[in-house]
Amino acid sequence: MSSAPVGPLGTILVLNGPNLNLLGTREPGIYGTKTLADIEQLCARTAEQRGLEARCVQSNHEGSLIDAIHDARGTASGIIINPAAYSHTSVAIPDALAGVELPVVEVHLSNIHRREEFRHHSYVSAVADVVIAGAGVQGYAMALDWMAATLTPAAAAD
Ligand code: DQA
Repeated sequence: MSSAPVGPLGTILVLNGPNLNLLGTREPGIYGTKTLADIEQLCARTAEQRGLEARCVQSNHEGSLIDAIHDARGTASGIIINPAAYSHTSVAIPDALAGVELPVVEVHLSNIHRREEFRHHSYVSAVADVVIAGAGVQGYAMALDWMAATLTPAAAAD
C-alpha cells in the first residue's frame, strides 16, 4: 500500500452513464441493491489503498460524459467507464475515449452477454483495454486493481 501523495497523474476518472444514479432501487434483480454512492465509496477506498485517487462523475447526458472524458486529458491517468445504455448506441463516446489516449477499463455490473441480444455489442469495447462484465460492484474494484498494476507496475507485486 502506498502512502505517497496523490498528484493529478494518480487520478482515475470513474465515469458512470445514464440511469446509474438510480442504482439501489433500479431493477435490483439485475443490478443489485448497492447505490451509486456505495460504488463511489468503494472506488474512493480501493483507489486510496492502491495509492490512487478516484474522481467519480455520473451523468445521464452523452455530451456531459464526453466533456468529462475530454477533461481527463492532462488531469487523470486512466478512465474507468460504465457507459450503461450508451455502450450499445454511442459512437461519440468511444471516439472521445480514443481521442484522449488514456488506458480505459469498461465495466458493466451485469453480464451483458447473458442478457437481451441488443446488449451483446458495446461500441466502447473496441477502444477499451479491459472489459469487465457481470462482477457487480466488485467490477469497479477489479478495474482499479488493473489500473494500479498498469500505471505503477511495482504495485502488481504487492
Ligand atoms: C449496464 C448494462 C447496460 O446494458 C444497461 O443499459 C445499463 C447498465 C450494466 O452495468 O450492467 O444501464 O451497463
